[in-house]
Amino acid sequence: MNKVNVFLSPNKVIFGNGTASQVGKEAQQFRAKKALIVTDKGVVKAGLLAGVQDSLKEQKIGFDIFDKVEAEPPAANVDEGAQMASANGADIVIGVGGGSSMDVAKGIAIMAKNKGKILDYAGTDLVPQRGLPRILLTTTAGTASEVTRTIVIMDEKRTLKMAVHSNYALADVAIVDPLLTLSLPPKVTADTGVDALVHAIETYVAMSTTPFSEVLALEAIRLIAENLPTAYAKGENIAARYNMSLGATMAGMAFTGGGLGAVHALSNALGVKYHLSHGRANAVMLPYVVDYNKIGSLRKYAAIAQAMGENTEKLTPYQAAEKLVSSIFRLLEIVNIPARLSDYGITEADIPALVEGGMKISRLFVPNPRNLTEDDVRNIYTKAL
Ligand SMILES: [Fe+2]
Repeated sequence: MNKVNVFLSPNKVIFGNGTASQVGKEAQQFRAKKALIVTDKGVVKAGLLAGVQDSLKEQKIGFDIFDKVEAEPPAANVDEGAQMASANGADIVIGVGGGSSMDVAKGIAIMAKNKGKILDYAGTDLVPQRGLPRILLTTTAGTASEVTRTIVIMDEKRTLKMAVHSNYALADVAIVDPLLTLSLPPKVTADTGVDALVHAIETYVAMSTTPFSEVLALEAIRLIAENLPTAYAKGENIAARYNMSLGATMAGMAFTGGGLGAVHALSNALGVKYHLSHGRANAVMLPYVVDYNKIGSLRKYAAIAQAMGENTEKLTPYQAAEKLVSSIFRLLEIVNIPARLSDYGITEADIPALVEGGMKISRLFVPNPRNLTEDDVRNIYTKAL
C-alpha cells in the first residue's frame, strides 16, 4: 500500500479526428517563428504533411523539413537533424510519423540545446538541458512515442539499440489525429497495432505497474482486441481507426509509468539481427512469453483474456490464462502475422545469438511477472521456432 506510483505524460494530449490542423495554433503558444518538421520520406509521399504545413502557414510560422529519418533510426539521424535545427534557427521541433520519426524528433529537440551526441545521453535521466519545445503527431496507432519519455536509436558501431529515457523527451503537445492513420497499409496496421497490445499487456502485469497504468492498460487491451481486426480488414473504417488510436495512446500512457517486460526484451534481437519491425518482433514473441509468464500473475492474465472478449466466467484463473494464449494466437492469425520464428527464416542455429541479444536487455526481466534465467530464455525461443 505504501508503493510510490508515478504517472508521467506530455503536458497536453490532443486527441480526435482532424486535430492535426491545430498544430499551428499550438506552436504559436510557444511564440514559435521557425519550425523544423522531422519526418520520413514515406510520410511525405503519403501527403500527410499538407495539413501540418497549412496550419503553420496560417499562423505565419516558417518551417524547414528534415525527412531523412530511417526505420530503426541510427543515432546519426538525430545528430544530423540537430545540426540542421541549429543552422536554420529552428525554435520548435514538430515530429510527424511513426515511432522512428517521433523518436528522432525528440532527440533533435534535445540535441539542439545539449552538447555532444545523442548517444552520450543513453540511459536514464542523463540529459541536462530541456531542449527545444516539441510537438509530436503520430501517423500510426502503435508505438505511442508521442506520449512516452523514451527515444530508441541504433548505435550503428555496436549494432545495438540504445534508449534515452528523459522527461525532456516528453512532448510538450502530443497530437493524436486518427485520420492520419487511415492510409496505413494492413501489414503496418497489424504490426503497430499488436505492438500497442503488447505495451498494454506487459505494463498491466508488470511488477512496476501502477493503479493509473492498470486502468489505462485494461481499457487499451479491450479497444485494441476489438478494433484491430476491423482496422486491418478495412483501413478506411474511421471508427476502428479512432478506437485503435485511442487504445495505442492509452497503452503508451500506461507503460510510461508502469514499465514493460520480457516480450520487449526478447523481441529486441529479432529486430536488430533479422530486421523484423519492432511491432512484428513483439507480435511473434507475445504468445510464447504470455504462456511462460502466466503462472506469475494468473488473475491478471485471466482479466486480460476477459478484456480480449473471451468468456471466462466458468473458468479457473489458470484456464482463463491458458485461453488468453489461444486468443492471442487467433488474433495474430486474423491479422496475418505468422507466429513462428521459422516463418521468418530463423533456425535452431540462430538461437544462441538470440539468447545473447535477449539477455542484453535483461533489465526488462525485473518488472516481468515471472523470473527468467538464460535457460528459460533459450526455452522460450526454442518453443517459438
Ligand atoms: Fe513497443
